[in-house]
Amino acid sequence: MDSFDLKLIRWQEKHGRHNLPWQNTRDPYAIWLSEIMLQQTQVSTVIPYYQRFLQSFPDIRSLAQASLDEVLARWSGLGYYSRGRNLHRAARLIVRDYQAKFPASADMILKLPGIGRSTAAAIAVFAYGERCAILDGNVKRVLSRCFGIEGYSGEKKNETLLWQKAEELLPPLDGTAGKNTKGRVEAYTQALMDLGATVCTRSKPKCASCPLQLECVAFRGNLVDKLPSPRPRKPLPSRETVLLVLTNAGKIFLEKRPPEGIWGGMWCLPEMAVSEDTIEHCKHRFGMDLRMPAQIQAQMQPFDHTFTHFRLRIYPQLLQVISVSSATVQHEGTSTWTTLDDALQSAIPAPVRKLFTNLRSSSGEKHG
Ligand code: ADE
Ligand code: SF4
Repeated sequence: MDSFDLKLIRWQEKHGRHNLPWQNTRDPYAIWLSEIMLQQTQVSTVIPYYQRFLQSFPDIRSLAQASLDEVLARWSGLGYYSRGRNLHRAARLIVRDYQAKFPASADMILKLPGIGRSTAAAIAVFAYGERCAILDGNVKRVLSRCFGIEGYSGEKKNETLLWQKAEELLPPLDGTAGKNTKGRVEAYTQALMDLGATVCTRSKPKCASCPLQLECVAFRGNLVDKLPSPRPRKPLPSRETVLLVLTNAGKIFLEKRPPEGIWGGMWCLPEMAVSEDTIEHCKHRFGMDLRMPAQIQAQMQPFDHTFTHFRLRIYPQLLQVISVSSATVQHEGTSTWTTLDDALQSAIPAPVRKLFTNLRSSSGEKHG
């Protein structure tokens, strides 16, 4: 019987993906960018962002020279902005410490901000053909099923086991007699990714067209639905907050968040505790006089946004500003009045984007 790696490589040749924009290049910068964008976003969403980003910042130097604002604006809409911040930070670090030359091994790549073991390995495989194992969410699922590994893959013990398996399965260094997989670690790695994304999918995997079907423990034991074991559900703690949509003369007030913490460096609506009085708050904090148009307020529904570690219930309030006190000190570059359309082109948090998109479509209905 063919080995695991050979089956996958054969399958990849025929059924894998060969023309994604980040394939057929050895440029580590372009590959790095793709792997970062693909961490939490699916291929079809990534493609246009990837192409625009590369046009704006074609190499490490141009990325390092850009301001964080420019980079986040190009990231706008992709979400998980810490990826964009780390990318920018890493580019500056590479220019400063490595003469703008991307690090040449998985071990060195791993030291860059925003890069974990699997991402470092994927970049080293595709850019340099280095023989190292990846283990992203898709690969965990394929291996858990194929080898019948039970338990939640996020748990340390399981994770260690999966990494061991992933390394054992790599195409051999010199190729086995007559079945040479030497230099094929790229095809093998792409095969694992493609199989996980297109065949061994989370729900309704297409086992009938899977090259691993004969040996797959989950398939043979009718356990495909049971593996991998789901994450043990801890209820997320929840918090609540008010987001203030302050409008004046067709513009909206935005504040730049401090670089640390959630939404760091992004343009955001002012936040206020739910226990506070809106009119007092805005008077003291911004020197603004407010009016609350009742019929507009009625359209602002509370909604939830889920972060990794907590759930945020958002109470938006739409308010008209009548006047702004001249005594108010506005720090240059940390707050701004902007149109909805301009705001939607900037780096704004996903729930704020959702709010603005709704606002734009409801004002469109009224006026057009
Ligand atoms: N997901 C993560 N990396 C990928 C890649 N290089 N191609 C397709 N999907 C991916
Ligand atoms: Fe996944 Fe089914 Fe293939 Fe097993 S046979 S690896 S469950 S697609």
